[in-house]
Amino acid sequence: MIIDFTVMSRKRLQFVVGKGGVGKSTVTAALAVAALGPGRRVLALELGEARGLSRLFDAADRVGAEPIEVSPGLFVAAVEGEDALAEYLSLIMPIRRLVKSIFKSRLYRTFVAAAPGLKELMTIGKIWFEDQKLCADGSPQWDAIVVDAGASGHSLQYLQMPQAAAATFKSGLVHRESDRVASMLRDGSVTEVHVVARPEDMPLVEATEIIERLRGDLALPLGRLFVNRCRKPAPRDIGESLARLGVQADPTHTLFFQTMQRAVSWLGIQENGIGMVEERLGIATVRLPNLVAVEFGMPEIRRLAAEVSAAEEAV
Ligand SMILES: Nc1ncnc2c1ncn2[C@@H]1O[C@H](COP(=O)(O)OP(=O)(O)O)[C@@H](O)[C@H]1O
Ligand SMILES: [Mg+2]
Repeated sequence: MIIDFTVMSRKRLQFVVGKGGVGKSTVTAALAVAALGPGRRVLALELGEARGLSRLFDAADRVGAEPIEVSPGLFVAAVEGEDALAEYLSLIMPIRRLVKSIFKSRLYRTFVAAAPGLKELMTIGKIWFEDQKLCADGSPQWDAIVVDAGASGHSLQYLQMPQAAAATFKSGLVHRESDRVASMLRDGSVTEVHVVARPEDMPLVEATEIIERLRGDLALPLGRLFVNRCRKPAPRDIGESLARLGVQADPTHTLFFQTMQRAVSWLGIQENGIGMVEERLGIATVRLPNLVAVEFGMPEIRRLAAEVSAAEEAV
């Protein structure tokens, strides 16, 4: 029997968090592609209004709340708080007309705008709802759901809301619903939260802080720390070789020598930074290469997906 480690070692529900611009949408797309397999159905979800993930699949203008298939087995959808709330209301209120009129009312709009965290709560509730969906034969509709959770402050807010709501409302509907979602998020056999960073000082420190919060007050299962856009480490003896070259170089080589030295010292910063984070957190990071591409699309995503899978097999 062939054991597919990529499929086995990742959890069914994966969240991707990290600071803006580090590559969350890109890593989400790569994880979703890595989770595909014969007969499997994977849902890649993005939260909020940014369409970074949909754009990678060339579907920014088509993607909405209903999942659409962008390549065989791979579905994409975008969840916005207000839509999720509307969908939820229409589930618990059988009369559509009533839902519509509530939605149009100023009172409702004021309520939604004023209730802190309500949209986040509904958004996460919608993910729970997708996770529970079954096919006609009773099997889960999605083999994996990968969520691009937006910039870190906001994404942690999403992940924190169910716990906060369950604690605030001691009983009743809101308590029951949020408790159910909070339990799903905390369940390490179902959920994992991946963090994305870049191999520079500040992004690495920020990622470390996110992981410490996940391990601390949020108490959520940590997936992997992806260090995106890494350069290949330099050969060990490069310093000596360069020094030798420098001594021997004639003045026309000076610029070359300096450029090489600078590149090597950048690689040193990358390696020191990653080393320090791994030691502080006691985990091994997954490095993803910095790809040179005019525009990111499916070929680049596939390459990164292969890196993700290779990293899993190496564990
Ligand atoms: N591994 C990579 N190699 C090269 N460029 C990358 C890589 N990952 C992401 N990028 C580029 O970095 C930018 C930000 O990536 P994106 O995934 O949109 O970040 P985020 O969702 O965190 O804001 C994009 O232009 C993307 O194409
Ligand atoms: Mg993005």
